[in-house]
Amino acid sequence: MSLDFTEQRLSYEKGSLEQQSVPQSPFVLFGQWMQDAIEQQVPEPYAMSLATCGADNKPSVRIVLMRELTESGVVFYTNYESAKGQDIADNPQAEVLFFWHALERQIRISGHIHKIDAQKSAAYFQKRPHDSQVGAWVSQPQSGEVDNREVMEARFEALQHQYPEGSAVPTPEFWGGYELCAERVEFWQGRANRMHDRIVYTKDNAQTDWHTARLLP
Ligand SMILES: Cc1cc2nc3c(=O)[nH]c(=O)nc-3n(C[C@H](O)[C@H](O)[C@H](O)COP(=O)(O)O)c2cc1C
Repeated sequence: MSLDFTEQRLSYEKGSLEQQSVPQSPFVLFGQWMQDAIEQQVPEPYAMSLATCGADNKPSVRIVLMRELTESGVVFYTNYESAKGQDIADNPQAEVLFFWHALERQIRISGHIHKIDAQKSAAYFQKRPHDSQVGAWVSQPQSGEVDNREVMEARFEALQHQYPEGSAVPTPEFWGGYELCAERVEFWQGRANRMHDRIVYTKDNAQTDWHTARLLP
């Protein structure tokens, strides 16, 4: 099967972005754009693509859910022994991307990534629904191969038996949060005629002030 989309094109006309009027901090603009996405009822606007690249030099990308915007960047939770966890252990640099079609907007955030404090991970794990907690134990190691679905379901049932509803499920050591600390944040607003607005914020780890620039679309 082949597919041809060469005649498909949309004109993006929903907004604009001026370098002179953007806030000093990219997190303020991120917050404003996130608020717009919530108002426009973008489904799961906190879902983001996470790109990593391990020692094999092969990039890898998948969706994860942003759980927090901190003063430094974004936090998400996962299995530390997953494929992404291995990539991050090899190379602690990553990029996340949000795309909100309803707003014709894209945001890219890249920088250094590190595990968050184990106590904070445990506090979040303990807030999750009981069956999601059990699911985290089933998916170990996440990204490992499994013979079939029945194997997963049998593990799920056995763990539900071990930890019945209402009982505490221990926080797995192999599970927790990562914080991606922003060093570069790019905002993209679609415009007509492919004359899109791109404003990038950059900062070295040592610097406190952000520098902005307009990029060619
Ligand atoms: C909407 C959506 C949300 C997801 N959220 C997460 C998440 O927060 N954490 C996570 O580990 N995986 C999440 N996943 C699954 C990942 O995309 C991926 O399949 C999994 O983490 C294994 O990735 P890896 O093999 O690259 O480590 C989500 C997938 C989708 C489609």
